[in-house]
Amino acid sequence: MKLFIDTGSVAEVEEIAAWGVLSGATTNPSLLAKAEGDPGENIRRICELVRGPTSAEVVADEADGMIAEGRALAELHEHIVVKVPFSQAGLAATRALSSEGIPINMTLVFSANQALLSAEAGATYISCFMGRLDDISVDSTAVVREIVETLRPGGYTAQVLAASMRHPEHVVTAAKLGCEVATVPAKVLRQMLDHPLTTSGIEKFTADWQSRPEFAEWLRGLTEARAPVA
Ligand code: E4P
Repeated sequence: MKLFIDTGSVAEVEEIAAWGVLSGATTNPSLLAKAEGDPGENIRRICELVRGPTSAEVVADEADGMIAEGRALAELHEHIVVKVPFSQAGLAATRALSSEGIPINMTLVFSANQALLSAEAGATYISCFMGRLDDISVDSTAVVREIVETLRPGGYTAQVLAASMRHPEHVVTAAKLGCEVATVPAKVLRQMLDHPLTTSGIEKFTADWQSRPEFAEWLRGLTEARAPVA
């Protein structure tokens, strides 16, 4: 499963992209509204940092407006994926924009039927929001499982993108269910790093090594003797 970062913050993308685990990014109007600076510049910078698919969302509610905004957003950067909210107008816009070769992330998908319609309209990504389902006491695991199981037999190329990840367990669940992508906020990505046994293990290795200063000297010499990599 590929990991995207779900954010409007360039600083967060700079931090997490350095880990080497990101394949793309998603933004939405709410996330961009929280960020300082010009939204177009922020989206372009995020595209450059993740070097992969980066979703930017239309806000029009009619198909014609979505198509016009989608074409304009797609011109911001070659990595742009146009995010379209699910609706009748969203389906029509998805058909039109995908026919022009513009990749679409159909967002706010909460059922297998909506996912089927999105795939038929030509969406490249289908975003199901797990956290928001859990918020209203609907089992997000069951919904995502049904979406994955519904699309697979039909041979659709649309990728299931697990969104609204509120904690690390959502990410693991999405991977186990066979989602191709999960888009994860920086806070949850940082939480994914942590395990107490990793922390205590590193502390023990460091302390044991430091108990033999001559070994530390040997490793420093070994490292410095290597020719610098060009
Ligand atoms: C997905 O692309 C959305 O930006 C996002 O995951 C929404 O998450 P939220 O429900 O935490 O706002």
